Amino acid sequence: MSITKEYELTGMLKVSEVVATTLKEMRNYATPGMTTKQLDDFGGQMLRKVGARSAPRETYGFPGWTCISVNNEIAHGIPSEKKKLKEGDLVNIDVSAELNGFWADNGGSFVLGPDIFNHQELVESSKRILRKAISNIRGGIQISKIGQLIESEARKSGYRVIKNLTGHGIGRSLHEEPYEIANFYDRFNRMRFKKNSVVAIETFISTSSTIASTKSDGWTLIGNRGGFVAQHEHTIIVTDENPIILTGMNDIWN
Ligand code: CO
Ligand code: CO
Repeated sequence: MSITKEYELTGMLKVSEVVATTLKEMRNYATPGMTTKQLDDFGGQMLRKVGARSAPRETYGFPGWTCISVNNEIAHGIPSEKKKLKEGDLVNIDVSAELNGFWADNGGSFVLGPDIFNHQELVESSKRILRKAISNIRGGIQISKIGQLIESEARKSGYRVIKNLTGHGIGRSLHEEPYEIANFYDRFNRMRFKKNSVVAIETFISTSSTIASTKSDGWTLIGNRGGFVAQHEHTIIVTDENPIILTGMNDIWN
């Protein structure tokens, strides 16, 4: 969406605060031994308490309030009573929701407890790359240039990117124009970021895979060559200067 009126800004600030604090509290709540269903129920309660609705559930009928992806799962992991979190797991939580007709989206990967399996470097790279990508976005900048930056930064750190998962426009629905803010230089995408538009920028930094595909459960995304993927995502407003980060309260950068 493009923000032209005061109430639109207010609405986006409000729903962004809700998804950001839900993500932050879920990360604090996660402990080894807990099932991903318990963690999801906690997040679902936080959304419900303020009258927000889970975006993936509303939009796609996703069987959970939030997406919780563990280790080799890239995204859209289904919260389950059978999935117990363990020390050293690479966990990704993605929270998106609707409140009063406005939609916001954010997510982040982290290592649960001690970094037994050495995932922290991947997590730090993804955070750093998201920060750099966002700080380069302005009204008028080509979307493909930001993709190019994300991929070249990933390569410099010895990583790859997932090519078929992207950031996206957001605001009046979960996914809207521009539909594809890729993590690589997509020469066919001639679109530019527009001033006052709301977009969700997300990294998909990968140790080996470059393509995500859906598992037989119909939701969970896994990589074509295995390995691990870190994702960090903020909803932002594009301006002539540094973007306004609407979901900054999620603390994924700290
Ligand atoms: Co998103
Ligand atoms: Co998301």
